Amino acid sequence: MADAAGQGQGLESLSAEERRFPPPPGLAEHANVTEATFEAAAADDVAFWAEQARRLSWETEPTQTLDWSDAPFARWFADGRLNAAYNCLDRHVEAGLGERVAFHFEGEPGDTRTITYAELTAQVCQAANALVELGVKAGDRVAIYMPMIPEAAVAMLACARIGAPHTVVFGGFSSDALATRILDCGVEVVITADGGYRKGKASALKPAVDEALERCPEVRSVLVVRRTEQETAMTEGRDVWWHDLVDRQPTEHAYEAFEAEHPLYIMYTSGSTGQPKGIFHTTGGYLTGVAYTHWATFDLKPETDVFWTAADIGWVTGHSYLVYGPLANGTTSVMYEGTPDTPHQGRWWDVVDKYGVTILYCAPTAIRTFMKWGAEIPAKADLSSLRLLGSVGEPINPEAYVWYREHIGHDRTPVVDTWWQTETGMHMISPMPGVAEGKPGAAMRAVPGVSVKVVNDEGQPVSDDAAGYLVIDRPWPAMLRGIWGDQQRYVDTYWSRFPGVYFAGDGAKLDADGDIWLLGRVDDVMNVSGHRMSTTEIESSLVSHPKVAEAAVVGASDETTGQAIVAFVILRSEAGDGGPDVVDELRRHVAKDIGAIARPRQIMVVDELPKTRSGKIMRRLLRDVAENRELGDVTTLTDSTVMDLIKGNLATTS
Ligand code: WT7
Repeated sequence: MADAAGQGQGLESLSAEERRFPPPPGLAEHANVTEATFEAAAADDVAFWAEQARRLSWETEPTQTLDWSDAPFARWFADGRLNAAYNCLDRHVEAGLGERVAFHFEGEPGDTRTITYAELTAQVCQAANALVELGVKAGDRVAIYMPMIPEAAVAMLACARIGAPHTVVFGGFSSDALATRILDCGVEVVITADGGYRKGKASALKPAVDEALERCPEVRSVLVVRRTEQETAMTEGRDVWWHDLVDRQPTEHAYEAFEAEHPLYIMYTSGSTGQPKGIFHTTGGYLTGVAYTHWATFDLKPETDVFWTAADIGWVTGHSYLVYGPLANGTTSVMYEGTPDTPHQGRWWDVVDKYGVTILYCAPTAIRTFMKWGAEIPAKADLSSLRLLGSVGEPINPEAYVWYREHIGHDRTPVVDTWWQTETGMHMISPMPGVAEGKPGAAMRAVPGVSVKVVNDEGQPVSDDAAGYLVIDRPWPAMLRGIWGDQQRYVDTYWSRFPGVYFAGDGAKLDADGDIWLLGRVDDVMNVSGHRMSTTEIESSLVSHPKVAEAAVVGASDETTGQAIVAFVILRSEAGDGGPDVVDELRRHVAKDIGAIARPRQIMVVDELPKTRSGKIMRRLLRDVAENRELGDVTTLTDSTVMDLIKGNLATTS
């Protein structure tokens, strides 16, 4: 378990954390979740989830809840039928909430759009009709490669409405990453935009689609939203403008109800091997899970809250807590297009002030960035509307938690640290704000209806304060149903390390109160700014460069991004010393290959890599070097002088 503790926060510093923040009395009194909720859920989790499924409107009510007979392939609410878009849209309009705002959209250049539930419903119907005109049928996969604009949500919901699973590819990913995903799940229609705004500039997206499609002959249509009005090449017969096709469609669309287990979407995520995994989610269980947790974790009051998930639609956080959970609950949300420091470092706080945001949900990396910029920046805005703060994506260190609570929440707001994954679809571990006495740095305990354990190498529960592996020992409704096209990999990755339980890949410990502290990944997966990156994927990218013979990548701790990508490369002999710009050249190569978020912070050119006798690269030692630490145990190295060589190398190259 050395790795788990090494990658996350130090165990000792966590045990020393004694600050406690009880729920504010007003919140506790009217809390959505109480201790009684936990008791009811623990007494019969299946009955609990059956009850939560009634938050949704079913065309055919399910009579079955969980079918686990073919474990680990779960079926939830299998004989029920429903439409996800209807649940997020029309039913609210039918209930008289058509004038409620669904999204306050704030574009980076300062343009805004207020979209009510009635308007969003009409737009989704138009987009659904357009997809039908393009020949998209239930079951067909549609790729969405978009900036953070309302049409991204409209596109997702239009796909859901006609039963076409979407796969949203983060707009920051490269054309190559897009092509790989399109090919992996057999996409024939892509929805994109000319570009989006980032850091004060229009940044193009469509050229990356064109490049990707050179490798994807099966794609027959590309629907393009005009956002930036950049010069955009359109391929005759394949590409069509959104405003030409969608705007002329009827604003009504008769939806069809699908089986609860009908696939809703595929979201690719990095694993410990190079090939990204297409995690797929289905309809009834997923929507039940996200609607429930969005309501429970954030103590949501849909009549009065203004909810802001500051995450991109290209990640699961955007799917579950910007689109499906909030809309299923009839929430008013904020959607912001751009970066936090455009045009100035107080942009987020202006957004909170302007829309009266009551609940803010973001990643620790953003919080640490704001800490660096200084507390005087948020102090200039009126943040008194905030009543609850959320954190997601990586362990939140106690200092960042306390700063967030103090300088953003003015010491009134609970902070909920939510642990979950692309695979889990919904929050799994989080304090419930009306019940928990918050501990900075702890994700606390499993949400009602969820069961997790911390186990040792043998799969036995660990004792208090000992580090172990986080496992989930009961199925849950929003769980992944598998890896698209590779169910064996699903079984191998998640269900084989410990028979019968889900292996999350995270280290964790329990404290004496039974509360859970997350310690970081235990596999070759890094967490950079709350985004999962695979060391192998970046290594393969480096090795694909003609000058590189071998590469090893590690995640080194970084004050702002949590972990940062550090690469060690051995150059091919033909490449000589690689030339003065070799490091820049390689960093650019990875950014082009995978996306800017994968660009290594640092690349070190070395002559050798430390390997065990069985040939496995000892990343632990490289991490020591990357973090400027004394080297750990080197006795299993084939050649213990390698590390001296590497350190000697660095002394001369840096
Ligand atoms: C991995 C999942 C959950 C949506 C965003 C990331 C890490 C996530 C926390 C947290 C500690 C966390 C884990 C997990 N992680 N939330 N609150 N505390 N670690 O989704 O890309 O699927 O990554 O992110 O290591 O396994 P993802």
